[in-house]
Amino acid sequence: MGQGQAITDIEKRKLSDAATLAFKNAYAPYSRFRVGSAVLTTLGNMVTGCNVENASYGLTLCAERNAIFGAVAQEGPSLRIRAIAVACEANVDCAPCGACRQVIWEFGPDCTILFKNGDKWVDRSAAGLLPDGFKLEKR
Ligand code: THU
Repeated sequence: MGQGQAITDIEKRKLSDAATLAFKNAYAPYSRFRVGSAVLTTLGNMVTGCNVENASYGLTLCAERNAIFGAVAQEGPSLRIRAIAVACEANVDCAPCGACRQVIWEFGPDCTILFKNGDKWVDRSAAGLLPDGFKLEKR
């Protein structure tokens, strides 16, 4: 699997802006921690998502997975993620959770992950955030 094409500063800006707008639609009455995400696909589409909570807490969907599943619904099962951004409302670290890292890795093992770290944006590789991600190898 080759290294994906590096994303430009303009693309980073567009993605981080879209993720920041996306958290405004979050449904987070329980944690009050609103999160937004934006996915840039290898076809050039941008798809956003936000976290959606539920009174049955375990049913909560993170912003990243909401964005990625929306991108699959839009582009189909051959979706490839070039980059994904995550923003939260609070001025705190917003690195994706472990479950989301695995889902990002499924569709973009060589993608760039941008997230807010306090008031700064940082970018990381998917493999850097999830070494040895799980893949289903049937016997
Ligand atoms: N959350 C996300 O949307 N993404 C993550 O990567 C971590 C956590 C959401 C889930 C929940 O609605 C709230 O943040 C607090 O955990």
